[in-house]
Amino acid sequence: MIDAAKIKKDFPLLNQKMNGQPLVYLDSAATSQKPQAVIDAIKDFYERHNANIHRGIYRLSEEATELYEGAREKVQKFIRAKETKEIIFTRGTTESINLVAYSWGRQNIEKGDEIIVTEMEHHSNLIPWQLLAKEKEAVLKFIPIDDEGRLKITKLDSLLNKKTRLLAITHVSNVLGVVNPLKEIITKAHSNGTRVLVDGAQAVPHLSVDVSELDCDFYAFSGHKMLGPTGIGVLHGKRELLEAMPPFMGGGEMIKEVTKEGATWNELPTKFEAGTMPIAQVVSLGTAIDYLNGIGMENIWQHEQMLIAYALEKVTAIPGVKIYGPLKPKDKGGVLSFNIGEIHPHDIASIFDEEGIAIRAGHHCAQVLHRRLGIPATVRASFYLYTDQSDIDKLIGAIKKAKQLLL
Ligand SMILES: Cc1ncc(COP(=O)(O)O)c(C=O)c1O
Repeated sequence: MIDAAKIKKDFPLLNQKMNGQPLVYLDSAATSQKPQAVIDAIKDFYERHNANIHRGIYRLSEEATELYEGAREKVQKFIRAKETKEIIFTRGTTESINLVAYSWGRQNIEKGDEIIVTEMEHHSNLIPWQLLAKEKEAVLKFIPIDDEGRLKITKLDSLLNKKTRLLAITHVSNVLGVVNPLKEIITKAHSNGTRVLVDGAQAVPHLSVDVSELDCDFYAFSGHKMLGPTGIGVLHGKRELLEAMPPFMGGGEMIKEVTKEGATWNELPTKFEAGTMPIAQVVSLGTAIDYLNGIGMENIWQHEQMLIAYALEKVTAIPGVKIYGPLKPKDKGGVLSFNIGEIHPHDIASIFDEEGIAIRAGHHCAQVLHRRLGIPATVRASFYLYTDQSDIDKLIGAIKKAKQLLL
């Protein structure tokens, strides 16, 4: 089992006070904190290896290129992709999904075609499909959720038909914490000839992901939620799909041959990496992966299961607190969204802030889900490998205090 108190010491930001109280960081679903090793990797890159990649014929540039491509290998192994050509670096989950919507979507979606999403999608995995559907006069359909916040998978059969080109679905909900049964969903979609894109922003940081086993067509995630820096993300795509897709952005590096009349495209993955990439961010994402591997993804998942079970038990015992999402930890990650009576979530967040507790209040970029739940906003506490039981005890104390003050 994980010793979170020991792990915390690796994260300099967590060892400070906020509003005179020891900081309790419960907003890892928004962005994770960074271990010293990742911070050092960024510094080390700029101090000793900084040069542009793939271009220089000199040693320093070769060194930077080796570090950059080495990180790609780490990502490939981490999510068990078949080859490094299938790993495209982007700015984050949002850009990865937009890349697919612009490139694959504009090539493959026609008037009258259908795209399926779910009611629990983050706007990053909804707006690109709404834009595409509008442009192409395609139809967007939603897999509904039940009152516990789980997908009504049985509805999928009636949504799929011969016009369904794509199913875009989150692996883990950023509000409900639900882990969707992807294997079953992907098998159903594929037997209908439908491609599947998975938003893995809340999955890759927390559980062991095997894209080859899942057999999804595209898988997107962000570095900053998995101990890495901001500004770097990943798109995994099946090679044959990526090869058939036109470029997303034009510029340096992504071309093979350019004439006045036109251009030919570089090999994968460079075809999709136009311009100078965030090199230090890629390299330090590799360091974040080393750190996660050192702890073990299975251990991280077990740790979060323990935390969510503990939090659910304690919070359900407080009268007047409504929790959204499943009340059993089974298939639920370390995300706890709730409301306290009629108190506005922003007021709750302010009281928590006075206690040094950082949590998120709002719609968490999931307005369709909040409409389905019949509320405008929730308070969200989210956990990670450095969260321990004492953090949850402080959360419980703050909930009780907010109730006392505001109810
Ligand atoms: C489920 C989900 N998808 C997509 C995103 C967007 O990630 P990014 O802002 O890193 O592109 C988030 C971020 O909160 C998320 O939780």
